[in-house]
Amino acid sequence: MDMQQNGMMDAARTILAQNDRGGYTVPTARLYPFQWNWDSAFVAMGFATYDIDRAYRELERLAEGQWDDGMIPHIVFHAPSDTYFPGPEVWGTRHRIPTSGITQPPVFGMALRHVHEAAVATGRTDAADRTLKLFRSALLSHRWWMSARDPESRGLVSILHPWESGSDNSPAWDEALARVPTSTETVIRRKDTGHVDASMRPRDEDYQRFIHLVDVYRGCGWDPMRQWEAAPFKIADVQMTGILARATADLLVLARSIGKAEDQRELEQMHQLLTDGLARQWRADLSRFVSMDLISGQDITAPTQACFIPLVAIALSDNQRDAVRAELRRWLDGMAVGVPSTAPFSPAFEPKRYWRGPVWAVVNWLIADGLRLNRCEDLARDIENGTVKAIEKAGFCEYFDPTTGEGLGGGTFSWTAAAYMVLSRRD
Ligand code: GLC
Repeated sequence: MDMQQNGMMDAARTILAQNDRGGYTVPTARLYPFQWNWDSAFVAMGFATYDIDRAYRELERLAEGQWDDGMIPHIVFHAPSDTYFPGPEVWGTRHRIPTSGITQPPVFGMALRHVHEAAVATGRTDAADRTLKLFRSALLSHRWWMSARDPESRGLVSILHPWESGSDNSPAWDEALARVPTSTETVIRRKDTGHVDASMRPRDEDYQRFIHLVDVYRGCGWDPMRQWEAAPFKIADVQMTGILARATADLLVLARSIGKAEDQRELEQMHQLLTDGLARQWRADLSRFVSMDLISGQDITAPTQACFIPLVAIALSDNQRDAVRAELRRWLDGMAVGVPSTAPFSPAFEPKRYWRGPVWAVVNWLIADGLRLNRCEDLARDIENGTVKAIEKAGFCEYFDPTTGEGLGGGTFSWTAAAYMVLSRRD
């Protein structure tokens, strides 16, 4: 590691220390002042590079927010803050610790395996005990996913709110979201545009629809089956399913060393169902995987990063692999840094607006992992190196403009720091 990398590594650790609120890490101060689900999973993997105890703590604190039905919410409101909307009073959920009522990509299982293996490698004696408790939480949450979000057993899990996807205002949701009314029972008091320029954030109209959905689900008493029936927005999402399938494979590895035989069988069945479901979403004419709008019954063909995420979970055929490589190269062509969250050749591409073009370090981390699993090391390495260089140039920003490499959004972002810790150590 050279001097610059050493300095950056220290800076990354400082960010995690500054964003620490007592065993959990906020994504960034003020803009996101609570614990976010998938952010914390990535952060735990960052901690695992130098502080195993803290890595476990991050996941344990996230699990404190888990509901009795197994759902791990997208936000855990451990302590009050008035710099974010919508807060606990809008969600109106009944968990012991206030939480939101929706979820986020289940990176938890992937992170748990990562932390466990790092713990075993350093000879920690408490690894098996701590992992086992978290394994139970993860398994419960995967059961929730299968029953609450794939009740028709398609092998694809659905999101009922764009925020669940982690890619809040992706063009993938445009058509489906346009059907959601803008009327709300809740008075909207946006805080995000007070921290970050409005031109980079979702539009007001999108926000009204986001809150309309929260109002509908709160009206269902947060009951999963009532929500499934009432949902005006329901998308079988390949990004979510890809991550869930991968996390299931990771839990299976853990089950073999610390779980029971019946856990293994259950996880194997889940994994088979999900990978079969994903395989059916490949569209050879587009060279991509596509999500499905369950209300219109249509494929979602908007070219977004989600199309590449199934690589983390399934083995591509040779033809598919060639097609994905060519497609990814097309997306990277002419970009200062890739992978853009929306293809640059798409009319929806906006290089600075949130999930409509910008590059996210953690998305690159997933795509690169998927490429490595599918024996595309060269492309994986290009994406990893590009991400590390972008961070070295622009800092630990929330995301980057792919056309210029400029750092945008929140400035001292936890998961960008974690991505740096993990990706800069790869060769
Ligand atoms: C935004 C992102 C989401 C992330 C959160 C906290 O809502 O879209 O993916 O988890 O910020 O960083």
